[in-house]
Amino acid sequence: MTTSTPPTDDFSQCHIRILQNFEQLRALGKVDITNPVATDIQASAKKLLTFYHEVVLNHHHEEEQELFNIVMDCASPGEELHAASRMIKRLTDEHRALEQQWKNIEAPLKKLAQGRFAQMNNAAATALADSYLLHAKYEESHFLPLAATILKNTDLESLGLSLHTRHNIHQTAGYM
Ligand SMILES: [Fe+2]
Ligand SMILES: [Fe+2]
Repeated sequence: MTTSTPPTDDFSQCHIRILQNFEQLRALGKVDITNPVATDIQASAKKLLTFYHEVVLNHHHEEEQELFNIVMDCASPGEELHAASRMIKRLTDEHRALEQQWKNIEAPLKKLAQGRFAQMNNAAATALADSYLLHAKYEESHFLPLAATILKNTDLESLGLSLHTRHNIHQTAGYM
């Protein structure tokens, strides 16, 4: 697997887009929102809501229903299986915690998306952006390398666990 040609279903590639959107959420949390709501704020709120429901939730679902199960099935009994199981438990718990955190900001976001005035909770938006960054970093630096090792030489390598992920995180950090 090379770093120059990312596979189509690249889980780590998906993180770049997710992190960029959460950075936009962080930025929106800091904006002084006027009444009536500016059209660009409304558009941004709308985009974030759609992105969360269509991409983020789907990403969590795909990891849990596909990737995690496949990795558990292919892991060698003993230390490898134990490590995979521990990481998957942590990542799955983090998905639920992130989804819970999202609830703190969804109500004002929905209002803004409809052009109705609402104040974003800056602390909640920042906390969510920070939490997602930590989740993606842990997944990329610990879980995806293990998953790649477990799936090496199987016909599941094409799942896209390429290890250019740290590079991705740096790109995203530069973008912020
Ligand atoms: Fe995840
Ligand atoms: Fe992920």
